[in-house]
Amino acid sequence: DFQYPHTFILCGASGDLAKKKIYPTIWYLYRDNLLPRHTKFVGYARTKQTISEVKEKCKKYMKVRPGEEEKLKEFWEANEYFAGSYDKRIDYEMLNQLISKFEKGPVANRIFYLAVPPTVFEDVTVNIRNACVSIKGFTRVIIEKPFGRDDESSDKLSGHLAGLFKEEQIYRIDHYLGKEMVQNLMTIRFANQIFSPSWNRENIASVLISFKEPFGTEGRGGYFDDFGIIRDVMQNHLLQILSLVAMEKPVTLNPNDIRDEKVKVLRHIKPIELNDILVGQYVGNPDGKGEEVMGYLEDPTVPKDSVTPTYALAALRINNARWQGVPFILRCGKALNERKAEVRIQYKDVPGDIFNGHAKRNELVIRVQPGEALYLKLMSKSPGMKFDLVETELDLTYSMRYREADVPDAYERLILDVFTGTQMHFVRSDELKEAWRIFTPILKELEEKHIKPVPYVYGSRGPPAADHKLASYDFKYTGSYKWQKPSLS
Ligand code: BG6
Repeated sequence: DFQYPHTFILCGASGDLAKKKIYPTIWYLYRDNLLPRHTKFVGYARTKQTISEVKEKCKKYMKVRPGEEEKLKEFWEANEYFAGSYDKRIDYEMLNQLISKFEKGPVANRIFYLAVPPTVFEDVTVNIRNACVSIKGFTRVIIEKPFGRDDESSDKLSGHLAGLFKEEQIYRIDHYLGKEMVQNLMTIRFANQIFSPSWNRENIASVLISFKEPFGTEGRGGYFDDFGIIRDVMQNHLLQILSLVAMEKPVTLNPNDIRDEKVKVLRHIKPIELNDILVGQYVGNPDGKGEEVMGYLEDPTVPKDSVTPTYALAALRINNARWQGVPFILRCGKALNERKAEVRIQYKDVPGDIFNGHAKRNELVIRVQPGEALYLKLMSKSPGMKFDLVETELDLTYSMRYREADVPDAYERLILDVFTGTQMHFVRSDELKEAWRIFTPILKELEEKHIKPVPYVYGSRGPPAADHKLASYDFKYTGSYKWQKPSLS
């Protein structure tokens, strides 16, 4: 009998996330021989279908290079699919029997990936716990947001999970924690003596963490409208980045030491107040092409009077000795002019100016995507006879410096971490609790007061008022400088 010491069970195998993201991800990991040898994959969902149908649905999302056909065939041979309901124990008992069939050896570990809607989340987890945990190895459960929609519902969910699994078994995904440059933040900060001493309120004026997307909700408005950009991106992805930028140095690189520091810095942040946030909603651009003419409210899945923000800018204050008085500005939006995620550490003006105000502020920019880069904006003398100042940069653009390097996708890294049992890049329940503490009051206030978001045009830089707001948080945007992606010549 063939033995499979690991089984990866994908609950929600017939859904969108599964076919677009999870099946392709496990295929890439399998293809690159990164998973333990002899891992079995089992898809579970309500839809009655065969594994060939699953394969067919995933086809267009899975990249297969010439010569990999044989490997792909092997991959699908290691896959099973089983149809069952989400709420009946008997179905999970049958699932358990199916998994057990491949577990004849002495060790059998199981990883459950829950790509299921929040409405069935509780049923699925209870049934896994009751009928499907491994008896001769570990059982780990990977879960995706939404982790509730406010402090109360999130606490309820955490309580529910804590009653079923130990924290070491729970892997809460925030896929931004799997991105190369987000993972690099700790190295940049703590492995460079040049940055450590200036990483504080004496030297830094403000920190801007941005997320921009050039497309709107595109038919996903039904889900989105219930959440909005603050829950979708700011409360999780951007706040996770903030905690890595602002936390104190962890005692060691042990995952719990790191997460202890992340929680600690969040505890210094007060809930956001109404005057520290600006919300926006996109409207169509009459001169635009395709989707661009459609405003958020024109999405047929969105209620006509929705006040759900698709853009938000908020300033958070960290009341500790390192950061008191330094605004941490989180900014995110859909249907903007570009796709970009970055962290911008803006240093203060040089005191005792001798350049008639021509020296611009230094900025350390950590460009998360697209085109990973780390660059430091600084002033230099313009080369030649003149004594003018020029803005320039020390540039570490990955595509130039690491030409051969292959930057893995966030999901690939994170799923691999679950196999190896590394929780460093996953969200612990107390971090989640702090995140909701900071955001719940403002989310409630926006909803209760029915605050109307300011309109901005699809494809623009966002609401013009956001620039004034940025300036009021001591972030200077001069517009005189544009990072150019260096090209190979
Ligand atoms: C998801 C959000 O978490 O992140 C989406 O729900 C968003 O709305 C996506 O589009 C962005 O992820 P990435 O990796 O493309 O930046």
